[in-house]
Amino acid sequence: MRLGKFQWKNPVFLAPMAGVTDKAFRETVRSVGGHLVWTEMISDKALTYQNSRTLDMLNLSGEPSPRIVQLFGSDPEIMAKAAVLAVEKGADVVDINMGCPTPKIVKNGEGSALLLDLPLAQRIAETVVKNVEVPVTVKMRLGWTAEKIVAPELAKRLEEVGVQMVSVHGRTREQFYAGKANRELIRKVKEEVNIPVIANGDIFSPQDAQEALELTGCDGVMIGRGALGNPWLIPQIEHFLQEGEILPETSWEEKIEVALAHLERVLNYKGERIGLNEMRKHAVWYIKGVHNAAKIRDHIMQTKNSQEMKDVFLKVLHNHVYS
Ligand SMILES: Cc1cc2nc3c(=O)[nH]c(=O)nc-3n(C[C@H](O)[C@H](O)[C@H](O)COP(=O)(O)O)c2cc1C
Repeated sequence: MRLGKFQWKNPVFLAPMAGVTDKAFRETVRSVGGHLVWTEMISDKALTYQNSRTLDMLNLSGEPSPRIVQLFGSDPEIMAKAAVLAVEKGADVVDINMGCPTPKIVKNGEGSALLLDLPLAQRIAETVVKNVEVPVTVKMRLGWTAEKIVAPELAKRLEEVGVQMVSVHGRTREQFYAGKANRELIRKVKEEVNIPVIANGDIFSPQDAQEALELTGCDGVMIGRGALGNPWLIPQIEHFLQEGEILPETSWEEKIEVALAHLERVLNYKGERIGLNEMRKHAVWYIKGVHNAAKIRDHIMQTKNSQEMKDVFLKVLHNHVYS
């Protein structure tokens, strides 16, 4: 598939995840061999107000292409302004969020609320497309409820105004994360448009990815929760789709080394206090499955500084069995 100057075969994207896919995690995913990573969703309004925390979220310095920035908002003009800023900061793809189900987002008419107003969704995309030179993409859910599936029609409308790729999470807003991602409805989106469509939802293994591609006919896959504490899943899926071979399990030594490097990055970008706080959830995800994980999790939650967290990781690394 092609997206502007990029060309990929069966691309495997790291999904945008608020509070997760920050610069430190994107670098970590790249360090283990993933390269199609997305930023967290970034508020168009906060960006145009030059909010300093929001500008930090847009720090793409030193990151290789493709630098895919996701924006959320509900006003076409503000979205376009934010998109221009994102491109100035180095974005080479601008993605628009039409899927976030969180009440505080949808009450402002943003995220999946746009699934209730297709003409507005289309106008937002059209205005952004007209204002930036880089490809504009959209990530969406299937619809607001099972009775109101709009993704195929929305994708068609977006294609008409120049959107170059859509990613579809196979759930409705009403579902949040309940039930199973619906691959048949993603397939309907793929059949409706000529632009690339990326399948998203419930892909936790290379086999899941292959099955999703077969069932949906999509051009690529996108991985969210499966990559939490498991950034290796992205290159493992890529390898399987290209070579048909399952790579060996990542060793605990490698997992802990990558977690330690991730911690250093978080501390570097966010400082000791915020960094430690943000790393706790990642640390718990990294140690999932290790012997005595519940006990280690308690220790991680109690760490008072980054050295204590490093010590927990090193203890896991050197003891293997944490006692
Ligand atoms: C912690 C978390 C944060 C998320 N933040 C975003 C976001 O900022 N933008 C977005 O489009 N989707 C967001 N999502 C949804 C994911 O991108 C993805 O669509 C969803 O998790 C389904 O994929 P999965 O089954 O592989 O997790 C988030 C999901 C999680 C778990």
